[in-house]
Amino acid sequence: MTNKIAIITGASSGIGKAYAEHLASLGYDLILVARRENLLKDLSDKLSSKHKINAAFIAADLSEHDGVMQVKTYLKKGIDPDVFIHAAGYGTRGFFYEVNEDLLERQVYLMTVAGTVLTRTVLPAMVEKKEGIIIFVSSVAAFISTAQYPVYSAVKTYANTFITGLRDELAATNIKVQSVCPGVTRTEFMHTEQYKEKNFDYSFVPAKYWQEPEDVIKESWERLTKKYKPVIVTGKYNRFMVGMLKAPFIGNLILKRISRNIRKRIKKGLPVEI
Ligand SMILES: NC(=O)c1ccc[n+]([C@@H]2O[C@H](COP(=O)([O-])OP(=O)(O)OC[C@H]3O[C@@H](n4cnc5c(N)ncnc54)[C@H](OP(=O)(O)O)[C@@H]3O)[C@@H](O)[C@H]2O)c1
Repeated sequence: MTNKIAIITGASSGIGKAYAEHLASLGYDLILVARRENLLKDLSDKLSSKHKINAAFIAADLSEHDGVMQVKTYLKKGIDPDVFIHAAGYGTRGFFYEVNEDLLERQVYLMTVAGTVLTRTVLPAMVEKKEGIIIFVSSVAAFISTAQYPVYSAVKTYANTFITGLRDELAATNIKVQSVCPGVTRTEFMHTEQYKEKNFDYSFVPAKYWQEPEDVIKESWERLTKKYKPVIVTGKYNRFMVGMLKAPFIGNLILKRISRNIRKRIKKGLPVEI
């Protein structure tokens, strides 16, 4: 690889794929990671010929130790990425005690351990160069936890907390770290078997909150240089909503009210739409 190198997890679709397309257009060589090898191959072929960059891919399941080791082993051959983006992830909406245990365990591993281990792998070379970029794709769900997605909220809170601490550690370098929190985004996220099986539908979310993956990554990339902060929320309506949730007094009141209403509905056996 001859250009700057970016490694992106979750690159086979959605937000990760949009980062891959953007970074290829900026001339980065790419290492694309996800499970669906055919999609990774098609994307790496497309981007390498369109942008005259080098694109490699690793088909690995990052929800387990062996998959993460596969990526580590690849990087240990002397590849030092300039950018690491951890976008791989999925939702497990539903009551915690009913969601498939394996899905939950893998979700926690994928969205916390895998990203942490791979950050630890790539960061020392960045520190030596005093330059680099680490992005975790978090969510507005990090700012509110309630019925149907306590684990999802918890892993997204992990991303925000981890990245915030790293920002301070790296203060003497030009390494930028970012936990980017999108709201509802048009990707394959809600097209999984689990969502279909339970008939989960996000159409109740007003259109103004929805974003395209390209909008999310554009804001994310711009905010690395403009008004740099370790945790950012994308989309002006999402920002307003999170701003309200974090506002002194009023934020607490809103959160308490949402929680109380949900508990009331659950006690009455009514469906919970959030
Ligand atoms: N869409 C939204 O509304 C939304 C909102 C806020 C935050 N997010 C976050 O954005 C991130 C990207 O999701 P998305 O919306 O772009 O959804 P997506 O289109 O479903 O993309 C998810 C990506 O993660 C990869 N992935 C899933 N499980 C994996 C595993 N075990 N090992 C390796 N890769 C795995 C998938 O690839 P393979 O299936 O090929 O492995 C895919 O590339 C997630 O962290 C999600 O929580 C999404």
